[in-house]
Amino acid sequence: MIEQAFQKAYGTKPEVVVRAPGRVNLIGEHTDYNDGFVLPAAIDRTITYAGRRRTDRCVRAYSSDFQASVDFRLDEVQKDTQHTWSNFLRGVSKFLEEDGHRLSGADIAFGGNVPREAGLSSSAAVEVGAATFWKKLLNLDLDPVYVVKLSRRTENEFVGVPCGIMDQFISALGRRDHALFLDCRDLSYRHVPLAADVKIVVCNSGVKRALAQSEYEVRLKQCRQAVARIASTGLAVKSLRDVKMSDLETARGVLSELLLRRARHVVSENQRVLEAVKVLESGDLERFGELMNESHESLRNDYEVSCRELDTLVELAWKQPGVLGARMTGAGFGGCTVNLVHADAAEAFALAVAKGYQEALGLKAEVYICQASDGALIPN
Ligand code: GLA
Repeated sequence: MIEQAFQKAYGTKPEVVVRAPGRVNLIGEHTDYNDGFVLPAAIDRTITYAGRRRTDRCVRAYSSDFQASVDFRLDEVQKDTQHTWSNFLRGVSKFLEEDGHRLSGADIAFGGNVPREAGLSSSAAVEVGAATFWKKLLNLDLDPVYVVKLSRRTENEFVGVPCGIMDQFISALGRRDHALFLDCRDLSYRHVPLAADVKIVVCNSGVKRALAQSEYEVRLKQCRQAVARIASTGLAVKSLRDVKMSDLETARGVLSELLLRRARHVVSENQRVLEAVKVLESGDLERFGELMNESHESLRNDYEVSCRELDTLVELAWKQPGVLGARMTGAGFGGCTVNLVHADAAEAFALAVAKGYQEALGLKAEVYICQASDGALIPN
């Protein structure tokens, strides 16, 4: 418990406690940085911040996950190359001040149970949690979408990871028992109810996403190149969001086989998200599951961001009774799969997939049966 860690570190009770969740993406992978559509849900695994104000401009932060402390001054916030876990809090604090929000010093303890480097957006939860913490501690008037953008900016400009906006958005604005349908171009969104008789089951391959960052950057560049080539044929496109399947035919002559496949994933994935939202709202979970499966195949074959471990977990999942759909989730190259499973089959599903994974690859998969949960900035 973070409250206890705070008490132990600072000898008093915290003034405020806030939580920000990790997420799983149901469908819409590698579409956010192409101005496309996504459908994530926040999960019941969170990062908690506990803290109190100080009268000076010093921030002291204790990480219960790393069992280490740092301190920094708000007047000269620098990147920490040793305690890299503190950079999310540092970046958020720096950019809040740059945007004109005057902070005070604080004593902070934070940590939680979002697995790290597992593709469940623990870093977005740490960022959104930090901004929510400052908002509550100092009564700052921060619009939720501003918090989302600030958190993403921290990841992009301070930490140096070129992610899209999905993870921060869902950590801030997810809703209990709902998925969130987000248009990453204009940031309009709506919550879509999830059926009570299905469970979101997350299987962690245990593979740390070693290749994830460099390959992510490669995909980002390939998408931009594809857009430039397609635009060179005279089609009015600004991002892959604007491209239709028929445009890919028109532009076939200017796209390499590789760029065609990358673009085809993004274009087809956007279509799948739109259909997924429609069928989820109409209660057709069978079709929703099929779309998840198709998404996995597209990520594996066209976008090439899956790996042997993720494919093994997904193929095992497809064979289980009660499963509606299964796919890799997040950036890929390790991390987790997401599975939609009938509630009464979820426990057996979890055991069977973990057993099959152990038998097939000799590896241990952790399985989490998740509840879609409120984001950090959803009033409850
Ligand atoms: C990571 C990024 C997101 C998104 C996904 C892929 O989670 O942080 O912005 O691009 O990968 O869908």
